[in-house]
Amino acid sequence: MTDSLTAEASGPSIPPDIKCAQDYERLAPRFLRTPFFEYIAGGSAEGVTTAANRRELGAWTVCPRVLAEVAHGHTRLMLGGDEHLHPILLAPVAHQKLAHPQGELESARAAAATRTCMVVSTLSNYTLEDIAGAGGTGHWFQLYAQPDRAATADLIRRAQAAGYRAIVLTVDAPVQVPSLDAQRAGFQMPAACTTPNLAGYGPVPAHDLARGESRVLHGYMRRAATWRDLEWLRAETPLPLWVKGVLHVDDARALRDAGIAGIVVSNHGGRGLDGAPASLAMLPEVRAAVGDDYPVLFDSGIRSGMDVFKALALGADAVLIGRLQVYALAVAGALGVAHVVTFLREELEICMALSGCATLADIRRATLHR
Ligand code: FNR
Repeated sequence: MTDSLTAEASGPSIPPDIKCAQDYERLAPRFLRTPFFEYIAGGSAEGVTTAANRRELGAWTVCPRVLAEVAHGHTRLMLGGDEHLHPILLAPVAHQKLAHPQGELESARAAAATRTCMVVSTLSNYTLEDIAGAGGTGHWFQLYAQPDRAATADLIRRAQAAGYRAIVLTVDAPVQVPSLDAQRAGFQMPAACTTPNLAGYGPVPAHDLARGESRVLHGYMRRAATWRDLEWLRAETPLPLWVKGVLHVDDARALRDAGIAGIVVSNHGGRGLDGAPASLAMLPEVRAAVGDDYPVLFDSGIRSGMDVFKALALGADAVLIGRLQVYALAVAGALGVAHVVTFLREELEICMALSGCATLADIRRATLHR
């Protein structure tokens, strides 16, 4: 893999016009080839849900509180039995070589530098073992259940052996419609973007569709995980099993009742069902349904520390960043990813200071208005 995948060679330095976390989104088109940018930025189909995610975050305001004592404050929290320094995780993002020749290895180095939990995608361009070796501790592994249970079990075993602290099963995109903008820009996955985690498992067993059978329902969905697989998955590992991609309160409750360690309220950044509600719109009712103490993470649309604050105030314990992470990776490699996390954390702390919140628990009690 050479630098030629990137539109402008990403240097080791941070461009001087990056002044806030969101600036990485503004600058990313300069550092990514147009079809790659469209692929990363786009949601599925028309991108209706991707746009809704940002609109919903913008619809809330935070009321300032004055004269509060917050000098003893901090952003620490416990998740899955481990202490995290701040509530910002790197979301699983596949194919990071689209953004940087060393892809996920650079993100792992940034995670190490900022003591951030990285959730490593099944579809990473480096193996989960190489990524774990590149930096950081306490990372989580995002699992796409494989058509062959033996392969799924082996992925879980390998993640555990490599020191990952949790398995995150993603369930919201068993079939994906690529962004129409990316298709129109001629996006094709480059040959260099392989998925080495899956290399040893052989080809997916072919299922020839009978005449009249559906490519979607009898094809893709035949291989998709269902509720019946959950119990088996839980029994496969002593690690906490999270489920990512939940919006409906009934699903949230059922997952909690099934003994799932926690859920990620997410619509995959709008890359699943186009027309789904904004993730943030569903967060308060999901939190109310599962109770105050059940672990709930949030993603889809986070671009600033204020966005992190709003998600926490509306019920999340912590958030994940997807596109911001890859934009920063494209602009300045590991340095950029570390920088964007540092920005988000400080922007969050400014919101805390000006709204009278010393801790994340105080944020949950903060007043938001629409
Ligand atoms: C993703 N996302 C994703 N999710 C997942 O569980 N496994 C994966 O491999 C990927 N891959 C992926 C690639 C790209 C290019 C994007 C943009 C996203 C979804 C991701 O984890 C997260 O849910 C969203 O990105 C969150 O929305 P924001 O932060 O991008 O707005």
